[in-house]
Amino acid sequence: MSNEYTVSAPANIAFIKYWGATDLERAIPCNASISMTLRECVSRTTVRVLAPGAPDEVWHATDGGMTPADGAFRDRALAHLERLRGWAKTDRGLAVATRNSFPAAAGIASSASGFAALTVAALGALGVEATTQELSVLARRSGSGSASRSVMGGYVQWPDGDDPEAPARQLAPASHWDLRDVVVLVQIGPKGVSSLDGHRRATSSPHYERRQALIPDRLAAVRAAIEARDLERLGPVIEEDAIELHLIAMSSTPSIFYWRPATLRVLEAVRRMRHCGIEAWSTMDAGANVHVICTPQAEAEVVAELEQLDGVHGVIRDGVGNGPEPIRGSLFEESRS
Ligand code: PMV
Repeated sequence: MSNEYTVSAPANIAFIKYWGATDLERAIPCNASISMTLRECVSRTTVRVLAPGAPDEVWHATDGGMTPADGAFRDRALAHLERLRGWAKTDRGLAVATRNSFPAAAGIASSASGFAALTVAALGALGVEATTQELSVLARRSGSGSASRSVMGGYVQWPDGDDPEAPARQLAPASHWDLRDVVVLVQIGPKGVSSLDGHRRATSSPHYERRQALIPDRLAAVRAAIEARDLERLGPVIEEDAIELHLIAMSSTPSIFYWRPATLRVLEAVRRMRHCGIEAWSTMDAGANVHVICTPQAEAEVVAELEQLDGVHGVIRDGVGNGPEPIRGSLFEESRS
């Protein structure tokens, strides 16, 4: 067994959002969600196996070398390593080096790709086999529910069926439908309120129960639209669900405003483009940035239109992608300078 394993795991963008949990620690969701796995926004993670009993280490790999992780991310990563060690029945210490291809904690599901990558890389380094379903459940237990979807490519629903502890299920592979996601960056630093706090406050909103009642129909509509590759059917549902997540956030106690002025500018521009016949629809996770879902034909025009808006720092051209993949090299070696 080689003592290191490196993986690239994708972020995902939710079409129907996970927002609110019956058990936040274990990320047991109040409702099912559906997402599209991304291609460009990824976390790359190397896990190295250390001696039995050695203390775990968590590092951010940067161009300037390795920086020790701190704060909430470090605590959550260490707790997850403990959990994975328990599952793998080992007492070996683990060293982690990780790096995102995109700004962390800015509404681009860095926890999803980060914990999916950590789960797959740790078990890979330990030489422990796990099915995709097991990886999905383990990734979810990190406390990042959306990570349960990032272990699969294409279009993914979580949980699969009525059991809220069930793993995610792939609805269709990436090759089924080439959709694009133009991620419009209006805020690059970390967001003010974590999605964990957002989930915690969600049920205090008067709009929360209403959304729960609407979700079964929305899930069915999104599944049917994906199956039929019908963006005109998909778009209105995903835009509505995203706006409602933010309505719930804004009306929670205490209230959460993720939007920046430029968020609204992007939302308006996307509506204007639709009036001109461009098929593009907005969605947002828990952050200020807007994901614009469109066809490959519309992508260049969407980018050109949105990147010149006031308050837009840039765009990431992303699209539907595959699940985690082992990659060559080591982030420990790469970052040695
Ligand atoms: O997985 P978490 O705890 O980071 O929550 C994700 C919440 C949203 O991104 C807003 C929605 C989702 O389903 O991804």
